[in-house]
Amino acid sequence: MKQKLIAGNWKMNGGLAANEALLHEVQQGLAHALASKHAQVAVCVPAVYLSQVQRLVLGSGIDLGAQDVSAHEHGAYTGEISAAMLKDFAVRYAIVGHSERRQYHAETDAHVALKVQRALSTGVTPIVCVGETLAEREAGMTEVVVKRQLAAVIRANGHCISEIVVAYEPVWAIGTGQTASPEQAQAVHAVLRAQLKSSTVHADHVHILYGGSMNAANAVELLSQPDIDGGLIGGAALKAADFLAIIAVAAR
Ligand code: 13P
Repeated sequence: MKQKLIAGNWKMNGGLAANEALLHEVQQGLAHALASKHAQVAVCVPAVYLSQVQRLVLGSGIDLGAQDVSAHEHGAYTGEISAAMLKDFAVRYAIVGHSERRQYHAETDAHVALKVQRALSTGVTPIVCVGETLAEREAGMTEVVVKRQLAAVIRANGHCISEIVVAYEPVWAIGTGQTASPEQAQAVHAVLRAQLKSSTVHADHVHILYGGSMNAANAVELLSQPDIDGGLIGGAALKAADFLAIIAVAAR
């Protein structure tokens, strides 16, 4: 069975001192979970802190992640950060297509697919986020929406799709304290798994994470679903005790 992956998405939070304190506490508590090698852990941090966090997590077993990556290789794209630049800081993962970027930065399915392509070609593993809004769920469109979002990525990346991580993050569950029920989440994860299967024979190896108000209490049932391979954790990743508690559930 593949190890579960628990990735923290710090979003636009943190600071030099706060990062150091948080990671110190996480590492203190992590020795046990990681010694048993039953879970993989990553933190996706603001770009300006990649260098600091690269140093802080060195040798700890925690992988480093970014929260976005440019669709372009290099050039006149002010403010953008390329996949090669991420590689310079030993970045393993880059979140791509988070709903906050789709919503506030007008990222389209096609743009997200290009970012995934750029990350994969540079050896950075994209964590591709998909998810429906509340209005889309209420209109019975959940499956259509997540399949459309993933289809764009599959079309642009072909068989390399087996190298991605997928995160199902229902927009209505992000930061709201309202989690998808284990049944609701599993149903969508199964749809995504089937879609991956139609494009790669390695679909069972792909981690499909759940994200949206995950905490230690709801993680128990969510992470026991057959197609939920880990979590993408927002708010709870900013508190060492909460993050560690989720990791402990994943490492069981
Ligand atoms: P919350 O865990 O704060 O709901 O955020 C989830 C998320 O958006 C992770 O990418």
